[in-house]
Amino acid sequence: MPRRSGRRDAYISGVIVAIDSTSRANGPRVSAETMRSVLHLLAAAAIGSAVAVAVAHPLNPRQGGGGGNTTIECAPIPSPFPTWQQLPQQSTLPDPFLPLQYTTPDNAQDVMAGRGEGRVRTPEEWYQCRQPEIVRMLQEYQYGYYPDHSQETVEATRSGNTLNIAVTAGGKRGQFRATVTLPSGASASKPAPVVINIGGMQNQAYLSAGIAVAQFDYTSVSPDSNAKTGAFWSIYNGRDIGVLTAWAWGFHRTLDAINMTVPEIDAGRVGVTGCSRLGKAALAAGLFDTRITLTMPMSSGVQGMGPYRYYTMSGQGENLENSKQGAGWWTNSKLGAFVNHSENLPYDAHTIAAAIAPRALVIDQGTGDQFVNSKGTAVVVYPAAKVVYDWLGAGDKIAISVRGGGHCDMSGFTSILPYVQKIFFGTETTKDYNDLGSYGSPVTTAFPWGTAVPGA
Ligand SMILES: *[C@@H]1O[C@H](CO)[C@@H](O)[C@H](O)[C@H]1NC(C)=O
Ligand SMILES: *[C@@H]1O[C@H](CO)[C@@H](O)[C@H](O)[C@H]1NC(C)=O
Ligand SMILES: *[C@@H]1O[C@H](CO)[C@@H](O)[C@H](O)[C@H]1NC(C)=O
Repeated sequence: MPRRSGRRDAYISGVIVAIDSTSRANGPRVSAETMRSVLHLLAAAAIGSAVAVAVAHPLNPRQGGGGGNTTIECAPIPSPFPTWQQLPQQSTLPDPFLPLQYTTPDNAQDVMAGRGEGRVRTPEEWYQCRQPEIVRMLQEYQYGYYPDHSQETVEATRSGNTLNIAVTAGGKRGQFRATVTLPSGASASKPAPVVINIGGMQNQAYLSAGIAVAQFDYTSVSPDSNAKTGAFWSIYNGRDIGVLTAWAWGFHRTLDAINMTVPEIDAGRVGVTGCSRLGKAALAAGLFDTRITLTMPMSSGVQGMGPYRYYTMSGQGENLENSKQGAGWWTNSKLGAFVNHSENLPYDAHTIAAAIAPRALVIDQGTGDQFVNSKGTAVVVYPAAKVVYDWLGAGDKIAISVRGGGHCDMSGFTSILPYVQKIFFGTETTKDYNDLGSYGSPVTTAFPWGTAVPGA
């Protein structure tokens, strides 16, 4: 069955082509994500009960990438995206270095082994081409498309430690609240980093470490159901977007409000966390907003740091089928087409993690937590993602804590705290965050491309 052959032929055989700025404008170069826009907040932060209004301008962080004279030309992103039938069935974790254009069924063995034609070759190409492609692909197949933040106006008021957040877009308005708890000594002249969480965390250990804690009521952003109520759906009802993405948006708008109204918090050092389904949301929050310094998914399972493949590794794993059946609203409807065909997905959990690089990611898993397949996260997903982090020269920005205990055990928060302190304060720790604990060693056969990284 010939497929996407036109597009493939249209693409020059080399992956990297140096072109001048004239041909660049006309070439098939992929435009990067408009959703990755950066907020320019006009109003200065104010203490007490003040109002600040943010006006967003789109800014493409990839424009001008590639460093001056030479521009990298990206493999075009297939349009429309391939269906599951047009993708190779891959029993091992897909090669993160292979653009979607080249992820074809006619060479499945090469694709799985990291021998596919057209892999990205350099970190520059990763950041300019493949990383934005992954973010787009994940929205297409799983999350739904993140709303264009440049079309939103965010207003925030602060009353004590409560933030009232209102977002307006397209004449529609959604509102929700967040609370902040400051560590002692935090001030506008000595602002503290913050961890934004949903569903609760171990506040005191973090406050004692000089880290502020913020929380929003995620159900007021979107309920954990098909009901399209809450702040997010007040604006975006009707769109094929998963609830994980709605919650991620809640993290981001909370950060906007903190930046506008809480000068005691340093909005440049931000962690996001949650456990289980809320850990899946925290992962999405880290993926979709480069302002997030540290992503902290706890016991997150499938659509978090649990793999779609290898879900039997812990004996009773969450998988695509049971997650889509039990809580199909977490993701978009398109993911439903892959039910019973998860091995045709051109990504897995390690791909999500890799797309966050070089920003920091720390993964919590409990050995008593079979349902979210802690073992699979530890021996398959984590080491596969670390191959990419290492290749990008950011190997110390990905970490895992394999602890005892079960699902959402609060000890997970203290277990990762030394790593959080390392990221926020540069404090060294002797704890080994590459240690898979009782799970032992990585299962390298799950990512055969790991021994064939580009340029090696
Ligand atoms: C905070 O707001 C300022 C403008 O007031 C903006 O330049 C900065 O990028 C914002 N930071 C974050 C983390 O949103
Ligand atoms: C542009 O090219 C010139 C000449 O090859 C080189 O000296 C310079 O470093 C390049 N600039 C960048 C930003 O790559
Ligand atoms: C998936 O497979 C199961 C078991 O064979 C079947 O009952 C179910 O209908 C299938 N679902 C889809 C969407 O194909």
